[in-house]
Amino acid sequence: MLAKTPPMGWNSWNTFSSNVNEALILETADAMIDLGLDKLGYKYVVIDDFWSLKERDPVTDKIVADPERFPHGIKYVADYLHERGLKLGMYSCAGLRTCGGFPGSFDHEFLDAQTFADFGCDLLKYDYCNLPTGVDKPLLYHRMGLALKATGRDIIFSACNHGYDDVYHWIRSAGAHMFRSTGDIIDNFESMKEIALEQDANICYSAPGCFNDLDMLTVGMYGEGFVGSTGCTYTDYVSQFSLWCMFSAPLMLGCDIRKISPEILELITNKNLLRINQDEEARPPVRQVQDGRRVYFKHLSDKEFAICYFNHLNGPIEVPFNFTDFGLSVSSGYGLELRDVNTNEVVGVFKEYYIPYLEAHECKVYLAKLVKV
Ligand code: GLA
Repeated sequence: MLAKTPPMGWNSWNTFSSNVNEALILETADAMIDLGLDKLGYKYVVIDDFWSLKERDPVTDKIVADPERFPHGIKYVADYLHERGLKLGMYSCAGLRTCGGFPGSFDHEFLDAQTFADFGCDLLKYDYCNLPTGVDKPLLYHRMGLALKATGRDIIFSACNHGYDDVYHWIRSAGAHMFRSTGDIIDNFESMKEIALEQDANICYSAPGCFNDLDMLTVGMYGEGFVGSTGCTYTDYVSQFSLWCMFSAPLMLGCDIRKISPEILELITNKNLLRINQDEEARPPVRQVQDGRRVYFKHLSDKEFAICYFNHLNGPIEVPFNFTDFGLSVSSGYGLELRDVNTNEVVGVFKEYYIPYLEAHECKVYLAKLVKV
């Protein structure tokens, strides 16, 4: 099965937008290897929009890589990545043109899928701009889903229709392995909060084989690059990463990996958070909604659980939360042993509730086990 767990990697868009080229991709790949990110599962290196020429080849009708950006062609990049154990992701669009105005795959699905396969591509992000009017939009994803299969190559189908047209109800049937459910993230707390709070009810549409994609992470951008906006604080980034992990969302990094700071590296390599994200059961968390705060409780495999407390207010709060709200009755004879995902230390065994103190925007995540009390 492809995408048994949420795909992980890096995508060029958030930071580099139209400034994508061979040197950037190879340097990013080198940085991923040097930092050991590949060993933790960050495998896909995705070249987003702006990689091709403005027009198809007049003879073959194929999309052609821009020779100024990719002087050795895309296959060369794929080989470079594959030799290092990484995987190549590419970008196209279900419409006549991509969102950036380059050739889209409408009515060229089978030809383009084969072109991507010939490049040695392992993931295709498939966007939703410039569709001809009156087309059956889901059918365009069904077509590309089949076209990718027809190549015989294992290619993750990363649908990107921004949550339109009730995507939750048909995208798995189109063969997608992940599907964007939101508009474009930008690097500020409001944007990531909006995405998280809007999508937490839709995590139930994620399961092994196809995951709800909350967009590339802005973690570590600190306001630099295309979607830089005002930037986030470290606390905001911890919350973003924690929530994407709790939601079994694909983890596609969007910062400049070559310049990553030690604190951000520590965050994105946190083994407890990655264990939660990559849990093979990919269960949606039970959520409890209160003003300014959310609490999520997620069943993991091996009789473990994860609890996440999220304060999305601009000031500190204490979050009261009764375990009975997600099924642990007071008469059960059981409590929860909580282990902090950052320190890896057990903070105690709690029977009825746990009330952490949270700074503004803070998320606290614990791994939990049932114990007799
Ligand atoms: C859309 C997508 C982005 C990016 C751009 C490229 O906006 O949502 O993630 O791929 O197109 O043009």
